[in-house]
Amino acid sequence: MKRTWVKDVVEKVGKKVVLFGWINSKRDHGEVVFLDLRDRSGVVQLVGGKELAEFSLEDVVAVEGKVTTRDPRFFNPRLATGKVEVQVEKITLISSAKTLPFDIYGSGKEINEEVRLKYRYLDLRRPRLQRNLYLRHQALQLFRRFLTEEGFWEIETPNLSKSTPEGARDFLVPSRLHPGKFYALPQSPQQYKQLLMVAGIERYFQIATCFRDEDLRADRQFEFKQVDIEMSFVERDDVLEVVEKIVTQVAEALGKKIYQKPFPRLTYQEAMKKFHQDKFDLRENKKEDVLAFAWVIDFPLFEKTETREINPMHHPFTAPHPEDIKLLDKDPLAVRSWQYDLVCNGEEVGGGSIRITDPKIQEKIFRILGHSPQEIKEKFGHLLEAFEYGVPPHGGIALGFDRLVSFFAGEESIREVIAFPVNASGRTAVMDAPSEVAPSQLEELGIRVVGKKK
Ligand code: AMO
Repeated sequence: MKRTWVKDVVEKVGKKVVLFGWINSKRDHGEVVFLDLRDRSGVVQLVGGKELAEFSLEDVVAVEGKVTTRDPRFFNPRLATGKVEVQVEKITLISSAKTLPFDIYGSGKEINEEVRLKYRYLDLRRPRLQRNLYLRHQALQLFRRFLTEEGFWEIETPNLSKSTPEGARDFLVPSRLHPGKFYALPQSPQQYKQLLMVAGIERYFQIATCFRDEDLRADRQFEFKQVDIEMSFVERDDVLEVVEKIVTQVAEALGKKIYQKPFPRLTYQEAMKKFHQDKFDLRENKKEDVLAFAWVIDFPLFEKTETREINPMHHPFTAPHPEDIKLLDKDPLAVRSWQYDLVCNGEEVGGGSIRITDPKIQEKIFRILGHSPQEIKEKFGHLLEAFEYGVPPHGGIALGFDRLVSFFAGEESIREVIAFPVNASGRTAVMDAPSEVAPSQLEELGIRVVGKKK
């Protein structure tokens, strides 16, 4: 007999079914024993005699039985299958479970996160996290669908690559074939997507994994996903329009309410004046279950930071506002750019820009940022050369996918919507990386560890 998913037993009253799953709860009344059986789709009550008493919570079992309607006095409105139960004819233990290190039936928020992440495969059994993973799956499929409908092609770019400056430290990967040389894991596919525009792809997207060695926070992981988008022959408003349409479609398909449509647009100056920062929350009542998206436009091209006199506000590929190009030499900090950010409920959920396509301006920006001609050639020569073979005007954006999903799920930390996140100190769930490696591996790479940083 074929397996029936637990959620489907309601359609099988009077019929025999085969079910598989985990024991979710147990009530032993002596002659009659009730077990709740759980699979990914739901929970259903099993009824039987003493033979059911030998099973423990979280054992994996196979069940054969007949679906019957419960006495209305025992309907359970909290269960989708609460009007039926399964009279067990045969139950077999597939795998027994030790007592779990923590409760998996509640929200889990009261449990120490280190412990939750050490046993993440158990933590993920809890209904809240199962729902989050399903929502994440749905969001992935919806982005793919709506982007495809708008003519975007999903194209993958390498993860072993060269450093692209996005403002964080790189994760480096040593090369065995080229001792002493390193790949950098991409902070974003920025340069590749621009090269794809030179290649004539016109509309690209990728659900890209990005790697940034930066301080971890509730909304930051070392590796995270971007819905990365690039388009040719567009101006800023074309990008904002199509991205707004897709984000709205995805949010609404997931049943979310959008606070204001079209998304309000504020210039950087307006945002700073009103909210004293470039990410802000437009909602009057922060408890409302709505998504308050807004665009921030007209960012300055450069900013002064604690460590640098002049730094790109976004990244060095962002185009200066044409009206301000004349200020580049005299007063670079006054130059506005074609950068835009998408904010939602007080967080930045996306950022992008129209790009520089004139190799002369691109070189000038690198020079203003303090790169020597030699450095420019080594680090970005490939891009400048590509721009000499016919480059379309282009621009794009990257949406922080984990952040968006955390908003869709109503979660405060992106760790709640990632299957295996790193913990607050940057160690991976379950497998506890980073770890030491065999001396032979280091030797092969020509690497000697000289000491540990305090
Ligand atoms: P940016 O650096 O603004 O742009 O990144 C885009 C979005 O990615 C999310 N994000 C993160 N999410 C989780 N953990 C992190 N460590 C993290 N860092 C960033 C944010 C952010 O808005 N190449 C450009 C895009 C472009 O110009 O097209 C880029 O990466 O939500």
